[in-house]
Amino acid sequence: RIPPDLVSAADYQRYASRHLSANARAYIDSAAADELSHAANLSAFARWRLQSRVLADVRGGHCRRELFGLSLSHPLLLAPVAYQKLAHADGERAAAYAATAVGSSMLVSTLASTPLEEIAAAAQGPLWFQLYWQPQRDITLQLLQRAEAAGYRAVVLTVDAPLAGVRNVEQRATFQLPAAVYAANLPGQAMALPALQHGQSAVFDGFMAQAPRWEDIAWLRQQTRLPLLLKGILSLQDAELAVQHGVDGIIVSNHGGRVLDTVPASLEALPAIAAVVAGRVPLLLDGGVRRGSDILKALALGAQAVLIGRPFVHALAVAGALGVAHLLRILQEELEVAMALTGCRTLDDIDQRVLWPQ
Ligand code: FNR
Repeated sequence: RIPPDLVSAADYQRYASRHLSANARAYIDSAAADELSHAANLSAFARWRLQSRVLADVRGGHCRRELFGLSLSHPLLLAPVAYQKLAHADGERAAAYAATAVGSSMLVSTLASTPLEEIAAAAQGPLWFQLYWQPQRDITLQLLQRAEAAGYRAVVLTVDAPLAGVRNVEQRATFQLPAAVYAANLPGQAMALPALQHGQSAVFDGFMAQAPRWEDIAWLRQQTRLPLLLKGILSLQDAELAVQHGVDGIIVSNHGGRVLDTVPASLEALPAIAAVVAGRVPLLLDGGVRRGSDILKALALGAQAVLIGRPFVHALAVAGALGVAHLLRILQEELEVAMALTGCRTLDDIDQRVLWPQ
């Protein structure tokens, strides 16, 4: 059922444009403003060259990884992506089923278009929950407790999107969610902004007035025994603060270039963050991962695992669960090829020596 010329993430992207409406494409494929950070995510991987090694003994090799209660067959997870029913009627249930069936996992978005309990029930293995801070602490807590009760193994608080950013592509397309696609985990008024007085700023007095601050991280840390990760860190200072606030992991990310444009690529930010964190907590990375060799490069620069966003949504749009499983297998095989030809038997063998010195 999958066409034979569909053999890479880029192929899925090409096919997906035929399966998605212009409205859905404006949301899924776009990034903020001039989309420079999204472009940087992609080109940052291309700039690094690999150092191949020959005649190495890599028999018995594998790319398995243990991470916060997950036994992964590869260091690759599905990033939290809102409203997956925009891409396919089976939405999040299909993506979670596919990921867990091939030994990966998914970060389920607070803005999923399917209740988080139903996604967990459809999955073949454990998942993580991506939390968006809610203006009311009790609603934030309810989400956390629902995720714990449904068996989620980690909580990932996304901290880089207290507001949507300048989304010109969506504005030009007058993007709107179809009536059948909505945030199934949130009560109706959850994300509503406070009423603004004349002269007040929607940014400072609206969105940022109800956004979390570091003191809320300390509170959140007390509310759960699950591993707590922060997603969306690019600065050394924030990485240090995150560790000091007791988080268990950091996802180095610029949100796929969708929030603040002209920040650096996630991959560009990674080495310095890895140096500052110095192994105190695991680092993950997302943004622009499209090849198995990209995964190798991210691991060489300090990540324990990576996530993909748009690529799996494209695969979901083209072929549902089967497409997502197929794409994950493609990327795992590409990673194994890259490892074998750079002389790496396991993920622990991957370090800066696989990169051609710049
Ligand atoms: C996202 N992303 C995102 N992140 C998050 O923490 N919560 C969310 O609900 C969403 N929603 C979302 C929707 C869509 C359509 C996209 C494309 C992205 C960001 C996502 O988790 C991830 O950081 C990026 O997608 C990674 O970049 P690539 O792989 O798309 O280049």
